[in-house]
Amino acid sequence: MTSLPPDLNPQHLPQHIAVIMDGNGRWATSRGLTRIAGHRQGAKTLKELLRCCKDWGIKALTAYAFSTENWRRPVEEVDFLMLLFERLLRRELAQMHQEGVRISFIGDLSALPQTLQIQMQRSMAETLHNQAIHFTVAVNYGSRNEITRVCRQVAELVERGELSPEEVNESFVTQHLYTADTPEPDLLIRTSGEMRLSNFLLWQMAYTEMYFTDILWPDFDREAFHQALLSYQKRDRRFGQVKSAIAV
Ligand code: IPE
Ligand code: IPE
Ligand code: MG
Repeated sequence: MTSLPPDLNPQHLPQHIAVIMDGNGRWATSRGLTRIAGHRQGAKTLKELLRCCKDWGIKALTAYAFSTENWRRPVEEVDFLMLLFERLLRRELAQMHQEGVRISFIGDLSALPQTLQIQMQRSMAETLHNQAIHFTVAVNYGSRNEITRVCRQVAELVERGELSPEEVNESFVTQHLYTADTPEPDLLIRTSGEMRLSNFLLWQMAYTEMYFTDILWPDFDREAFHQALLSYQKRDRRFGQVKSAIAV
């Protein structure tokens, strides 16, 4: 276990961090390796980051592992990723559970291989009451898909006379997203130099601080994470007000 670097203020850490883990493919090809090797290394980075968040007292981490658009990749890469998710879950679940990690999966899980779905449901149920950190993995996740789903639920409820249009407010929408029981991310980190959201948590990140780094995901280590947190702690989150009420 490593302690929080002394130049970080423990009172002002983000409670929830979202990461777009990007750059696995480029990391691998620049080394003459297959893209698949990059994903394998990327999984190790995620495991390390989860441990670091736990050590440093960050209560929630949400990682974008596979988008609704990623099905457009070569079938071998998609198949490998599905296998990797399943293998990782099998291998890491017991230890994560032991360390008090609550694991959740968000996205349209129904389109995933059956064996993976079973493994996911099992790990969510088993770790439901763990409190050390809430680790959410977005798989076959797309924000537009998520919001469209809520719209359809609203339409069905209204049609059945179980909901009136006046009852549809921001809190209703928030409560019907995949992320219903998770607070909004305070900080988003995207690696590999890309500065876009790629359909990730569009509703939830309305007021999230964004941090972009050129570092490729497999190289995103504790020091890189430390830099992201330092940048976050310099921000003044105004939430539309004139003067921040929560600045330290
Ligand atoms: C992110 O790395 C991992 C997934 C999207 C699954 P990429 O695979 O997108 O890596 P690059 O962007 O091609 O380098
Ligand atoms: C975003 O990365 C999705 C994940 C990290 C899972 P992509 O590499 O798929 O995003 P684009 O295509 O560059 O926008
Ligand atoms: Mg990419």
